[in-house]
Amino acid sequence: MLEGSGEIGRGLAVARGSYPCSLMHGDIQRILVDEEKIAARVAELGTQISRELEADVARTGAGINDIVLIPIMTGGIVFVADLMRQMAMKLSLRVVTVSSYPGISTESKGAKIRGELPRDLKGKHVLVVDDILDSGQTLAVIKEALSEQEPASLRMCVLLRKPAWRRKADIETEYVGFDIPDEFVVGYGLDYDGYYRNYPAIAVLKQEAVGQ
Ligand code: IMP
Ligand code: MG
Repeated sequence: MLEGSGEIGRGLAVARGSYPCSLMHGDIQRILVDEEKIAARVAELGTQISRELEADVARTGAGINDIVLIPIMTGGIVFVADLMRQMAMKLSLRVVTVSSYPGISTESKGAKIRGELPRDLKGKHVLVVDDILDSGQTLAVIKEALSEQEPASLRMCVLLRKPAWRRKADIETEYVGFDIPDEFVVGYGLDYDGYYRNYPAIAVLKQEAVGQ
């Protein structure tokens, strides 16, 4: 299992001016994790997870077709797209939608699963992929719901993890990209009020861009 997580590059306090969308870029106060650091860490995670899943499949005698990635929509969309392409193995993808932030809130109001959960996970090796571990309520709800189906293994992977004191649910993630401070971040799938998911780095918004 993973020990520790990646370096977030504290020195990178100046937002770069090279992004083409100046409107979005103008809302960014600073970049916390840049694109190169994300790409390098996602590649490391992909290699590590593939190795461990392959060992699991061999150990349990599960079929090669039995690896399922479950990204949490919508925040996990960018991370899973990159992560799955760093996993050189046969796998399938099922999505789960969870909502926790109504509108312009920056605090979780508790997690709710929307729509259908994937079925037929019994005996499969399941990896849940999300953007960030904050209060932990999202992953706790998902873990409980999916473990009822008795998968052969059930692991959690997040790109970002906020400090442990933020947790309201007792949940551990097996794989973590980066530990970050307690700041509200956007980009690489994470949104504020539905925007900035397409920003390519992990960034903190300017005060004036929040609450508009
Ligand atoms: P939880 O509090 O661990 O349940 O996290 C719930 C969800 O809130 C995550 O999956 C993210 O989509 C979202 N979230 C948590 N922290 C942030 C943040 O700093 N920026 C944007 N979204 C966040
Ligand atoms: Mg989310």
